[in-house]
Amino acid sequence: SLEGFDHYMLKEIYEQPESIRNAMRGRLDDENATAVFGGLNLTPQQLRSVERIILTGCGTSWHSALVGEYMIEDLARIPVSVEYASELRYRNPPIDNNTLIFGITQSGETADTLAALKETKRKGHRTLAICNVVGSSIAQAADGGVYLHAGPEIGVASTKAYTSQCCVLAMLSLYFGRLRHVSFESGQRIINELRQLPAAVQQALACDEQVRDVAKKYQDASTVLYLGRQYNFPTALEGALKLKEISYIHAEGYPAAEMKHGPIALVDEHTPSVFIIPRGTTYDKVMANMEEVKARGGPVIALASRDNPEVESIADDVIHVPEVPGFTQPIVNVVPLQLLSYHIALLRGCDVDKPRNLAKSVTVE
Ligand code: M6R
Repeated sequence: SLEGFDHYMLKEIYEQPESIRNAMRGRLDDENATAVFGGLNLTPQQLRSVERIILTGCGTSWHSALVGEYMIEDLARIPVSVEYASELRYRNPPIDNNTLIFGITQSGETADTLAALKETKRKGHRTLAICNVVGSSIAQAADGGVYLHAGPEIGVASTKAYTSQCCVLAMLSLYFGRLRHVSFESGQRIINELRQLPAAVQQALACDEQVRDVAKKYQDASTVLYLGRQYNFPTALEGALKLKEISYIHAEGYPAAEMKHGPIALVDEHTPSVFIIPRGTTYDKVMANMEEVKARGGPVIALASRDNPEVESIADDVIHVPEVPGFTQPIVNVVPLQLLSYHIALLRGCDVDKPRNLAKSVTVE
């Protein structure tokens, strides 16, 4: 039921502190400063011998795969490639032994993700699922995997499943890292940072009022750009997808530095850009990009840390996000963007939970 919310999407956005808690429940092992998973069905030896990881999925799940790429690289130092499941299934890429394939999916029924996993499994590779729906086709087809425990996601636009996928990928990164070079102490630090996530997401939800004002101001835009770098690049893609999906406004996500290679030509006084610009690595560079957009007359909405006069002096609108470590930023920073698309869609009279032309799970090719 809607439990007092106007739409499932809004309810699911607000459930995120809890769904993230559920994704982590019983999976953080303080004694060994690592993560534990019941269903990987592989021995620590087999997991330790993994030399490459392929992450595959569609849509929002593909975006969490991109987040996973940064996390696994960063925390576990294992080479990762991210593939659209629809492309992977018909390609014939050389895949080395000791490659592990993860299919990422909320529904567990996405035809392309299922086919990509079956194809890699047929070739003899180990395939695991990161999945929300228990007993779904993909959960059954994989050799093992990790459930999200996010509870049913009804809104067609994926929200809580996405943040839970990112959270599971962070825990997997910790786990793989601890099988290799990550020290006990660093493992503990990562665990502590993960434990702070539900509260940080709760804090991010408090930006709802600010977001509503921004939504009112930009509801009539016909194109919106989303820009971010490193951990915030997939967030830019996900913010843009959410907006397209439910408000039918054209939106594009880019790594902020790519802007000057083409998309900046779109910038004019009617084309707002959303910059995801928390303090941290590449902050100064993204700042320079923001100034470039401003100089060309483009309205700027910044998602930034609190008390940042520099951002405030340039951006037309600022949405505050709590300051968290890099690898947890995707989970926190996507929340205001989910809310932004929700409020804009609502103002435009769109059917938020059931956008046109879309189904909750895409079981055909
Ligand atoms: O159930 P899945 O995670 O496999 O679904 C994949 C995509 O169809 C899905 O994420 C889609 O992009 C959403 N509607 C995005 O909000």
